[in-house]
Amino acid sequence: MAAESVPVIEIRDLHKSYGTLEVLKGVDLIAPRGHVVSLIGSSGSGKSTLLRCCNLLEDSQQGEILFEGEPVIWRGTGLHRHPADRQQVVRIRTNLAMVFQQFNLWAHMTVLQNVMEAPLTVLKQNREEVEARARTLLDKVGIGDKADVYPAQMSGGQQQRAAIARALCMEPRALLFDEPTSALDPELEQEVVRVIRALAEEGRTMLLVTHDMRLAADLSDHVVFLHEGRIAEEGPPEALFGNPRTERLRGFLSATVA
Ligand SMILES: Nc1ncnc2c1ncn2[C@@H]1O[C@H](COP(=O)(O)OP(=O)(O)O)[C@@H](O)[C@H]1O
Ligand SMILES: [Mg+2]
Repeated sequence: MAAESVPVIEIRDLHKSYGTLEVLKGVDLIAPRGHVVSLIGSSGSGKSTLLRCCNLLEDSQQGEILFEGEPVIWRGTGLHRHPADRQQVVRIRTNLAMVFQQFNLWAHMTVLQNVMEAPLTVLKQNREEVEARARTLLDKVGIGDKADVYPAQMSGGQQQRAAIARALCMEPRALLFDEPTSALDPELEQEVVRVIRALAEEGRTMLLVTHDMRLAADLSDHVVFLHEGRIAEEGPPEALFGNPRTERLRGFLSATVA
């Protein structure tokens, strides 16, 4: 297969339990390079768990995870299965940068320090280069003037844009967004949506968990509807939103779209 056609992320038959609670019951997912794949579904359907399994923040018990065609190496089985190769975990996690609903900025660091931290400490990159890149990214997300401010001094929308700049500063192969606009007031939501939209238009590979059906419909190449840990329906956004096939998805959409 040509390098271009190898998906950034591929998940095959993934199963994940928390103790006796099976949360993912055999999920297949492909994020091709340059595509936006959205995950939609009710609260508790397993969307966050799936994202966290992708970048190995969570263990899974069965199934395969491939990053750019490279399968995660496991040791042990079932609830005792863990990634075997620490360096592989770091490589995958740093290449799949996550943006969380609650921003998760470090409160004791300025915005610039937040953005620079992981490239300096995890990737051991040169400080001057990282700082130049960090400042460029803060400009790009529209908060270049907030470099020396602490997170608590910013609005939620500004904090989330700082978190996006932080993710981008890792120069990841894909961005994983977990409900990036859910914690924001509607007027602040739009400034974050604009940034996410611009990233999609640049051809970034993204996995996007969102409650915002319009955003999912506008940006996605592919939409996946999770229900109780399984993919109940998936396809291009026109089909999923325009012509849902399953009763489950019809019910979800009518409850979600006011
Ligand atoms: N750390 C955890 N320990 C135990 N159960 C969890 C944990 N995280 C999530 N769950 C459970 O897993 C299920 C899926 O959760 P989650 O992936 O957060 O769903 P979603 O993001 O779609 O709302 C829910 O039943 C939730 O309660
Ligand atoms: Mg969630």
